[in-house]
Amino acid sequence: MEAADGSAELKRKAALAALDLVEPGMKLGLGTGSTAKLLVEALGKRVAEGLDLVCVPTSEATRAQAEALGVRLTTLDETPALDLTIDGADEIDPQLRLIKGGGGALLREKIVAFASARMVVIADQSKRVNELGRFPLPVEVTPFGHGATRLRIQDAARSVGLAGEITLRQRDGRTFVTDGGNYIYDCAFGRIAKPERLAEALATIPGVVEHGLFIGFAQAAFVGTPEGVIRISADGDREQ
Ligand code: A5P
Repeated sequence: MEAADGSAELKRKAALAALDLVEPGMKLGLGTGSTAKLLVEALGKRVAEGLDLVCVPTSEATRAQAEALGVRLTTLDETPALDLTIDGADEIDPQLRLIKGGGGALLREKIVAFASARMVVIADQSKRVNELGRFPLPVEVTPFGHGATRLRIQDAARSVGLAGEITLRQRDGRTFVTDGGNYIYDCAFGRIAKPERLAEALATIPGVVEHGLFIGFAQAAFVGTPEGVIRISADGDREQ
C-alpha cells in the first residue's frame, strides 16, 4: 500500500540501497510487506535487464509478485542455504533486534532468514526505536486450542514483567489466517526491556508456532530518511 505520508519514498530509497548488495548468481531470500514489495519491484527490473539469480519468497504475496515479474524462484527444500535475505521490519532497535509479523508472514520470514548467511533489513525511519514494543508483538499460534495458548502467552509475558492486551488478529471481519494456516495474536505489551527473556518464555509454549522477535538475525539495516539512507550495523550508523 502506498502511504500518503511520504514514507513510501523513504522505503523505496532503503530498498534501492539494499539492492546494491545483490550480485549475479546469488541465492536471495525475499521479504514480505510494503517495503519488500518495492525491493521486489526494483529487482524485477534488474532481472528484466539480465540479472540472473534465484530467490525464495517469504509469503504467497511475494511469490505472486516475483513470479509476475519473471524472477526465478526456488524453495528451501531445493536450495537450503541462501546468501542473503532482504526484508522489512515493524521495529528496529539500536542492537538490530526486530519486531516483525505486521504483515503476518513472520514464520516463513524467520525460516528464510535463518537459512541465509546474511539478513539485511529495509525500512523507513519510523521503524527505528530505542526500545522494542510500541508495535504490538505478533505471535503465531496453531488454531487448535488457541484460546488456551493465549492464556499461556499472558503467563509467559507476566513471568518477564510484561502485560497488555492480547488480541486475535482479524481481517475483513474474520480471523486472519497465515500462509501456514495459523492464527496471530497481537500482543500490546508496551516497552519490552528484555526481548531475549520474552522470546525464551514464548518459545516454551506448545501452541506457539513462532513469535515476531527477531534477535541475532539482522547484520545491517538500511533506513530511509529525507536526508538519505542510513546504514545501521554493529559498527554504528553511517550514511550511504
Ligand atoms: C511481514 O510479516 C512483516 O514482518 C513485514 O516485514 C513488516 O510488517 C514490515 O512491513 P512494511 O514494509 O509494510 O512496513
